[in-house]
Amino acid sequence: MTAATTPGQAFGIDIGGTGIKGAVVDVQTGNLATERRRILTPHPATPEAVAAVVAELVTEAGWRGDIGATFPAVIKHGVAQSAANVDPSWVGTDVDRLFTDVVGGGSEVVVLNDADAAGIAEARFGAAKGVGGVVIMLTFGTGIGSALMMNGVLVPNTELGHLELDGHDAERRAAASVRDEHNMSYKRWSERVNRYMQHVERLFTPDLFVVGGGISKNADKWVPLLELHTPVAPAQLLNDAGIVGAAMAAVERRGE
Ligand code: BGC
Repeated sequence: MTAATTPGQAFGIDIGGTGIKGAVVDVQTGNLATERRRILTPHPATPEAVAAVVAELVTEAGWRGDIGATFPAVIKHGVAQSAANVDPSWVGTDVDRLFTDVVGGGSEVVVLNDADAAGIAEARFGAAKGVGGVVIMLTFGTGIGSALMMNGVLVPNTELGHLELDGHDAERRAAASVRDEHNMSYKRWSERVNRYMQHVERLFTPDLFVVGGGISKNADKWVPLLELHTPVAPAQLLNDAGIVGAAMAAVERRGE
């Protein structure tokens, strides 16, 4: 697979705990312009090991130009500031610089929080397209990620998954991984999600919640059980939200 650099396109990379996915994205439509390629996340997932996979994806695609990458931690101006579910050696790493250096060829890599990337993609092309006011995207996976947007503009690194809920870190109570670990029914798990989302609702009074993460594929099993004043829309881009949002962030950084 080779992809020539084309205006209106960027390369998006989604870094997760099990897989690292990449594809060229048409940033006008939000569609993938090449097939999605997935490489297993190395273990231990140190910055150097993950950077090598990022370089492999870009080289294989023959890509030169804007590159965006998601990462599941607080990313402030390219530097990782937290490590809730990732190797602790990421804290303090300038991820923009590390990835830009390994990729080479004059391509610049922009890194952002994974839920922020998904939020950008859903706001532009998915469940929150055209929705004004305050939109909160919550991703339920290993942890809980959040993206807060006002009229489509992101406030980065909100980390609402780490709100305190009943004396616990909220994601330790209501992430999708907790449901798997404890073999919970959707009904039982949704009670926790409900309590969590009611808390977020009281804090922000959003106009719309978008729920994402793998478990949003089965949204019909738990979203109807939620008792909230705010409408809840399942994510639409599913597997591709991270890749698309990362590519958009890369292009926006350049000011297109
Ligand atoms: C991290 C967030 C991340 C979320 C989803 C949380 O544990 O703190 O940065 O967005 O997991 O991956």
